Amino acid sequence: MALIHWHHNAETRYPFGERSPDPDRFEPIGFPAPWPDRPWIFGVMVASANDVVAWKRAGPDDDPVRAVLGGDDTRPERIADRRHMRHLRCFGDVGIGAQTLRAQPDLVQTPQEPGEEPVPELYDFRLAHGLPYHPRAVIYSLFGRLDVAHPVFNTPGLDVMVVGTPVAEATLTARGAREKGVAFVTEHVIDPEALRRAHARLFADHGVRYLACEGGETILRALHAAGVLDEVFVTVTDAVIDESAHEDVLRIVDFDADGAQLVAEGATSPDSAWRFRRWRFNAR
Ligand SMILES: NC(=O)c1ccc[n+]([C@@H]2O[C@H](COP(=O)([O-])OP(=O)(O)OC[C@H]3O[C@@H](n4cnc5c(N)ncnc54)[C@H](OP(=O)(O)O)[C@@H]3O)[C@@H](O)[C@H]2O)c1
Repeated sequence: MALIHWHHNAETRYPFGERSPDPDRFEPIGFPAPWPDRPWIFGVMVASANDVVAWKRAGPDDDPVRAVLGGDDTRPERIADRRHMRHLRCFGDVGIGAQTLRAQPDLVQTPQEPGEEPVPELYDFRLAHGLPYHPRAVIYSLFGRLDVAHPVFNTPGLDVMVVGTPVAEATLTARGAREKGVAFVTEHVIDPEALRRAHARLFADHGVRYLACEGGETILRALHAAGVLDEVFVTVTDAVIDESAHEDVLRIVDFDADGAQLVAEGATSPDSAWRFRRWRFNAR
């Protein structure tokens, strides 16, 4: 059964209504209200059983995300995780670090990704809650080294905003991003206070209320350092990664050591080794 059953779920607030977009596929997910001056920001990540999320890719066939998810795409856990990620794209807008986009250039973070089966129930959910059809894509970048031919910059109806430095804005402008309709929220974001200010501007100037940041680990850590990473949904799979076989291994934040609270945990069945967890940093 590819449904995540959430147990000991401590979040019972539902600004988006208590009804699931499709009860056969999703239990409802609640969120607190956004902050008065910035969005509620949640990470969405998948980690191996030994906490690995990525490493430096040795070549085009070296895909850490696939390895962490394990081989078979048809397992119930794999299906549930894919749906869970799409579901979490239904509450507001989405975010991604530039390095992830370079590693996965075809990534388009919509409830129905290109080539996938239609999910009208997810789009109905967005529209019923006054949200635009597609989530807006927030791309984080320091240097703007991105190819504006990537599908995310060329998907009709999908607006892109770059949260980055003046250098990122200049580089992407020179590459034709403005002609693609890209908006810039430019601050010296290497400074945590400036990254925080950029999110206040996303809230005040662009109406961003909920932001699902799908990694990678570098940008999640930058958000955490700025105090704006409110919680993280992490799927812990059954894959065990041999860390000695890879370079520059990145591990998920140590939630316990960082004082996060486990607000919900779920599984697809009692005998599944996969765990769907929700760790909260900022109480509201
Ligand atoms: N396991 C998972 O769930 C998961 C999720 C996502 C990605 N991944 C994998 O993780 C790898 C990429 O992750 P990563 O951690 O290396 O990189 P990342 O977080 O995707 O992106 C890092 C980039 O973000 C920009 N950046 C850094 N600090 C910033 C700040 N303070 N403000 C604004 N922008 C900032 C920089 O962009 P510029 O380089 O443009 O200057 C930096 O290179 C890939 O292999 C990807 O497939 C795994």
